[in-house]
Amino acid sequence: MTATQDSVLAPTLSSRYYTDSAVFEAENQHIFERQWYYVGRADDIPAPGRILRRQVGRESVILVRGRDQVVRGFLNVCRHRGAQLCLTDTGDVGKAIRCPYHAWTYGLDGKLLAAPNWEAMESMDREEYGLHTVHVEQWEGLLWVNLAPSPTPLIDQLRPQIEARLADYSKFERYRLGDLKVGGRVEYEVVANWKLIYENFQECYHCGTIHPELVRTIPEFQSPAMGTGGYDPTGYAIAGDLESFSLTGRTVLPRLPHLLPEDDRLYYGMVVRPNCFISLVSDHVIVHRFEPVAPDRTRAVCEWLFPADVVDSGDYQVDDAVALFSKVNEQDFAAAEWCQPNMSSRAYREGGVLVPSEQTQIGVFYQWYLSSLGDAA
Ligand code: FES
Ligand SMILES: [Fe+2]
Repeated sequence: MTATQDSVLAPTLSSRYYTDSAVFEAENQHIFERQWYYVGRADDIPAPGRILRRQVGRESVILVRGRDQVVRGFLNVCRHRGAQLCLTDTGDVGKAIRCPYHAWTYGLDGKLLAAPNWEAMESMDREEYGLHTVHVEQWEGLLWVNLAPSPTPLIDQLRPQIEARLADYSKFERYRLGDLKVGGRVEYEVVANWKLIYENFQECYHCGTIHPELVRTIPEFQSPAMGTGGYDPTGYAIAGDLESFSLTGRTVLPRLPHLLPEDDRLYYGMVVRPNCFISLVSDHVIVHRFEPVAPDRTRAVCEWLFPADVVDSGDYQVDDAVALFSKVNEQDFAAAEWCQPNMSSRAYREGGVLVPSEQTQIGVFYQWYLSSLGDAA
């Protein structure tokens, strides 16, 4: 039986979308190099000279905080003979970016400042040899890069997605992500296509099978019909006999300061395309960043955010909160890895099927994905 013969089921993408390097190339070109792409937190580079290196589509990009505190983005390509300027994912370049090869030196604003034997090249126009800039915007403490020549504002990409999930953008603003601080961080190398991870995050048909701790915490997730017709914008409630969204359910942390009483004891998860998931609970926020590395490989970085005093004061233990979603991550990423090897099986050439409770959210995702790829789909 195929999905097209049975109206109760809907088709997934076919296998080549999870295996083909030409598709991966098209995704880089039409999605990751064209849309705003989440690269890290503004407080990862808190002071002038601090630098982040990220792969964005097919390009290596650096983000540097200037002496004026502005974060700027550049292609990580020396204008002399093309060496990578920054060879590590994080660092501190001090007052200038110095190429490791022949020591051309650029200001934190990307301008070429000096080169060895400068006198012999006096007539050269140094304005012409600054670093290539890329667009950077900050939203709620998160840094996003866009490689398109003249992108639309970041908020135009993000706000409709948040509104689609929560109905009301001001609800999201109450969590004040920009004021929060990282209290836990785990990195994962997932041997699976990024879309398997996204599809999984947008259905709870698997929750009863693989997430015993999560369904204990949010009983509604036990239902295989959960998500039918889309997510509930009023959120999902923590079990009445538990104190919190944590592994034991017992650790009590202060409520995020700007939430309303009606936000208490609720969970909201959302995909923020193209490479971020945000999960909101009343005492912390979980942000996932994804880096698609290859058709069958995705790097994931999960960060747990809490109010600064919860992280810094020593009065609170955040480990129990971190432990719950760490478990969920391990379970979800293992599931993606169960599927990836079979994406190239002859049995899956035409893809699989989505049951009713998977169709709305994954359908929205497919629609975005295929329309982003356009003719390259
Ligand atoms: S390649 Fe950078 S200075 Fe030569
Ligand atoms: Fe899951």
